[in-house]
Amino acid sequence: MTDLATKAAPDAATPKGDLFSKFDGMIELRETILATGVEDPYNLVMEKVLSPTRAICNGRDTILLGTYNYMGMTFDPDVLDAGKEALESYGSGTTGSRVLNGTYQGHKECEDALKEFYAMDHAMVFSTGYQANLGIISTIAGKGDYIILDIDSHASIYDGCAMGKAEIVPFKHNDIEALEKRMRRLPADAGKLVVLEGVYSMLGDVAPLQEMVAIAKKYGAMVLVDEAHSMGFIGENGRGVAEQQGVIEDVDFIIGTFSKSVGTVGGFCVSNHPKFDILRLVCRPYVFTASLPPSVVATAATSIRKLRHGANKRAHLWENSKRLHEGLVEMGLSLGTDEPQSAIIAVIMPDLERGAMMWEALLKEGLYVNLARPPATPAGMTLLRCSLCAEHSTEEVDAILAMFESAGKAVGII
Ligand SMILES: Cc1ncc(COP(=O)(O)O)c(C=O)c1O
Repeated sequence: MTDLATKAAPDAATPKGDLFSKFDGMIELRETILATGVEDPYNLVMEKVLSPTRAICNGRDTILLGTYNYMGMTFDPDVLDAGKEALESYGSGTTGSRVLNGTYQGHKECEDALKEFYAMDHAMVFSTGYQANLGIISTIAGKGDYIILDIDSHASIYDGCAMGKAEIVPFKHNDIEALEKRMRRLPADAGKLVVLEGVYSMLGDVAPLQEMVAIAKKYGAMVLVDEAHSMGFIGENGRGVAEQQGVIEDVDFIIGTFSKSVGTVGGFCVSNHPKFDILRLVCRPYVFTASLPPSVVATAATSIRKLRHGANKRAHLWENSKRLHEGLVEMGLSLGTDEPQSAIIAVIMPDLERGAMMWEALLKEGLYVNLARPPATPAGMTLLRCSLCAEHSTEEVDAILAMFESAGKAVGII
């Protein structure tokens, strides 16, 4: 965001010393977009949620195609029952840190469910996925260590790096040679952590983990993979891209979130490292915050246990992803990947203005997608990010395609 902010000329009306003047560029950009009369893409209200795939948004019955609710667990009856029961039995919140009064039976059961799901020795549940990256990365890689990371990494990864004060060595997105070139130059005896994501959420592309993990190991680095967008869906057991590419045994830490396939809120790290549990005492974003409410860990644990047996849902989600990708390509739209690689399909817009117009035209048709724009996007692209759900029916995917066609023609990009 700083890019846009620093470009702004100081506003004459802004008093000197106003700490908000750094946001003038962002305010101006926002006002320019809203002045065109489009609905505010960052102020959508879901007045009623009907199912994992439908809601009443800004007064309209809308198909949801931008919620990352990949496995559609948010209305699973077992998940809801578990949450209600925990709410009744344990109350609405823990009012405490995991290391003091905030570890209930449910937190332990949730960590057990994760250990079983990943077949790993240790699991640590955080209050969000953001805090999981922030905490694990900043705690294990500090001053004097090196973090080698894909330049398109999630904000929580960058913030974890900044908090730990390790030396950051970014490499070109998904570029195996660029990674090796960086690794070769680092001191042989320094602590090194290679940070990768299974699926990159902007374009929906998958990392070449097999090659990259091998390089990391060759140069003596530990490896952390954020599987936020692949858990539950990718891999035979839904363990993610590391499982799909056969390298899960070589990954030292897997980070994940409950806010996507699991269908609630929370984050985690799983690992086989024998000293892993010491992190519970030294990881500040774990220690100095309240733990998740009992109802949340109960829904998460139930959802995770069910995801293990989600092979049919995984197969249907792949069908949805392929059908949408193929249909959008046939319309002549430009997509983030040549083939569908995940449940995210990014439609590349010619510019921000037409991207915002298309986003609004789709909303009016009854379809919600995410509008992503620079500086959050790679190469300054404006994207309409679609995330499919295993609960989208084939008919819904066809309806989504019809809406894209109609909106695309109205806006003049088809
Ligand atoms: C790759 C990645 N990691 C971590 C997170 C943070 O997850 P949470 O929503 O649980 O904070 C996200 C969420 O957008 C993400 O996309």
